[in-house]
Amino acid sequence: MMDQIAQLREKMNTILIEDKATLERFRQDFIGKKGSIAALFETFKQLPIAAKKTIGPLLNGLKNEAEKKFKSAASILEAVAPAIQQPVDVTLPAFGAAIGSLHPLTIVQNKISSIFQRIGFNLAEGPEIVGNWHNFGALNFPENHPARDLQDTFFLQLNPVQLLRTHTTSVQISTCTDQSPPIRSIAVGRVFRNEAISARSHCFFHQVDGMYIDTAVTFSDLKGTIYHFVEAMFGRATKLRFRASYFPFTEPSAEVDIHCRLCQGKGCTVCKQSGWVEILGAGMIDPNVLTNCQIDPEQYSGFAFGMGIERIAMLLYQIDDLRLFSENHLDFLRQFKGCLGFSDGAVFAK
Ligand code: DAH
Repeated sequence: MMDQIAQLREKMNTILIEDKATLERFRQDFIGKKGSIAALFETFKQLPIAAKKTIGPLLNGLKNEAEKKFKSAASILEAVAPAIQQPVDVTLPAFGAAIGSLHPLTIVQNKISSIFQRIGFNLAEGPEIVGNWHNFGALNFPENHPARDLQDTFFLQLNPVQLLRTHTTSVQISTCTDQSPPIRSIAVGRVFRNEAISARSHCFFHQVDGMYIDTAVTFSDLKGTIYHFVEAMFGRATKLRFRASYFPFTEPSAEVDIHCRLCQGKGCTVCKQSGWVEILGAGMIDPNVLTNCQIDPEQYSGFAFGMGIERIAMLLYQIDDLRLFSENHLDFLRQFKGCLGFSDGAVFAK
């Protein structure tokens, strides 16, 4: 009888219960009144008492195992039943894949890069952590310039100075030191300033800085390049103006304004009633900067320009709070889904 119990256990263990029909057959074959275990109990009754003592626990054990297997299979089938029974309509359209969108700053950055790349500028890269020389010294910043102050800039280390670059103009120095003219490049990246965070300023933002150095580069070349950029970025009809300004690393220097896109130049809060908004700084590279990079200012001249990517994106998309770019609100970011193309300078969805 011990052999019969062992054989039945083996048979029972090989059965895979995957549906209700198999479950019911299992019940009838093993647990039911007419099942094999019940039949073994009939035989058991005929055994002498001594044999009953050894066989009894084995037979009960087998019965318990069968009941346990039945119960667990029954509860699993119960749990998955609704999913299995759900009718599947294979003709329904598939769920769309949940693809994300490019960040608005990436869209604008790509656009700026492609405008300049198409007219012969290549991409230069530089580190976010730089020394005094790359961020200030080589760029002709006087020793007592406020930007060099601990309050204005994030200094990571003082001796020797290591700081978070305050502008991508620092890349001009590494590029000009590593290459010789003609140089036509733009640098894109994150910059840092020790400023209170508000709708209009942040402790980090993004810039594009560009330069062109060659023999006989003139202010007209700078103007032509900026006119081309403004037209490609904001559209043909966009009015712009150059305003005299000051930067330590350019002489002469200018700031470029475009007609306010929100009020079409009539005057509103965004343009502070002036009708104009500033989009970039530019100028002819100061001879001292060229000398600092071992480029002879007698032989070469160059122009440079720099702009904030957030500022351009805010104007294009009419965004009124700088903080939105870095707060990761999906409601904000989802608005740029499918926003890859530009038409006549404006950025349109889909
Ligand atoms: N670095 C300047 C800033 O962060 C912007 C700038 C102005 C860059 C004039 C230039 C330039 O390359 O020529 O405000």
